[in-house]
Amino acid sequence: MIYSGLVRRHLFRLGGGDPELAHERTLATLTRLGGHPRLVSLLHRHFGRAAPRTVFGVHFPGPVGLAAGMDKDGVALSAWPALGFGFVEVGTVTRHPQPGNPRPRLFRLPQSAAIINRMGFNNAGAQALADRLAAYGPLRTPLGISIGKSAVTPVADAVEDYLAAFRILRHLGDYFAINISSPNTPGLRTLQDRAALDALLGALRAEATVRLLVKIAPDLTDHAIAELLEVCAAHEVDGVIATNTTVARDGLAPGDAARAEETGGLSGRPLAARALEVVTFVAKQTGGDLPIIGVGGIGTPDDALRMFDAGASLVQLYTGLIYQGPGLVRRINRVL
Ligand code: FNR
Repeated sequence: MIYSGLVRRHLFRLGGGDPELAHERTLATLTRLGGHPRLVSLLHRHFGRAAPRTVFGVHFPGPVGLAAGMDKDGVALSAWPALGFGFVEVGTVTRHPQPGNPRPRLFRLPQSAAIINRMGFNNAGAQALADRLAAYGPLRTPLGISIGKSAVTPVADAVEDYLAAFRILRHLGDYFAINISSPNTPGLRTLQDRAALDALLGALRAEATVRLLVKIAPDLTDHAIAELLEVCAAHEVDGVIATNTTVARDGLAPGDAARAEETGGLSGRPLAARALEVVTFVAKQTGGDLPIIGVGGIGTPDDALRMFDAGASLVQLYTGLIYQGPGLVRRINRVL
């Protein structure tokens, strides 16, 4: 495995082991790669073979997607399909461009194959994404656009803020992920409560007939998830993305104990069991009628298979890509 040997060692050592620098370099490399169509085609032949499927009326060339947060501003959209991804979720973007939280804000927990992040939706804003997407032309895979609340906007004004971002982008995505589950924007997760979610989804639904998905936190109780699903049903939401990162710190290797103290959302292997539990619960609760994108801790083909067995129609990953590279996507595609 070239990635886990050479490439990962190089990326993990960059800048004295600064994970955000590794992230920026990876994105820059993939952006440049996207400018070489013959190389993209070559890689696509190696990584791109996948089982297509149609979910909520959209044709996906493969069921493994890139989770939100990796390519927030959509800078490397030509490259992701060449690494085997059957869809990409860009964002989370916000109405206003914003720098996110101060650095450091991204931490590796290597013994646990996990990440803690408190990025705080650093992004160039909805308009910049719209401009970039308009310039791309047709993409090789479906595009999800994740929308969140700007940090400068009080939670009480969240609906207007989401609406403003949505209006700028609504003609550009195959689906929209309403992110109300990031732990890194104060108050955001209160939008998962019945009344707040009802107001938000009602306003978005009144705007346009696009595919709306809601991304949920793994830290909700069964009761809270059941209530949220009722609100989703009332507004004919097209699917649920389960799950975002967790504020829990279960299942970490002892060697990562110091890093576990960092504030932020935990992703990767320690999240797998809880994400699977949430997918299972959502599938049972909706009688399998609501499409689910399963995400959280997928690090092996078996993890992905378990998500599908539990009722997911599609899966996404992020942290697994950091630790294992695109070979992971290829291995999953091969078993499906
Ligand atoms: C994320 N995730 C995320 N989710 C989201 O909806 N909007 C976002 O902006 C981000 N940003 C983000 C940044 C970083 C650095 C990480 C590691 C994660 C969460 C991500 O999409 C996914 O739900 C979780 O990471 C769980 O999946 P993995 O990483 O365990 O495969």
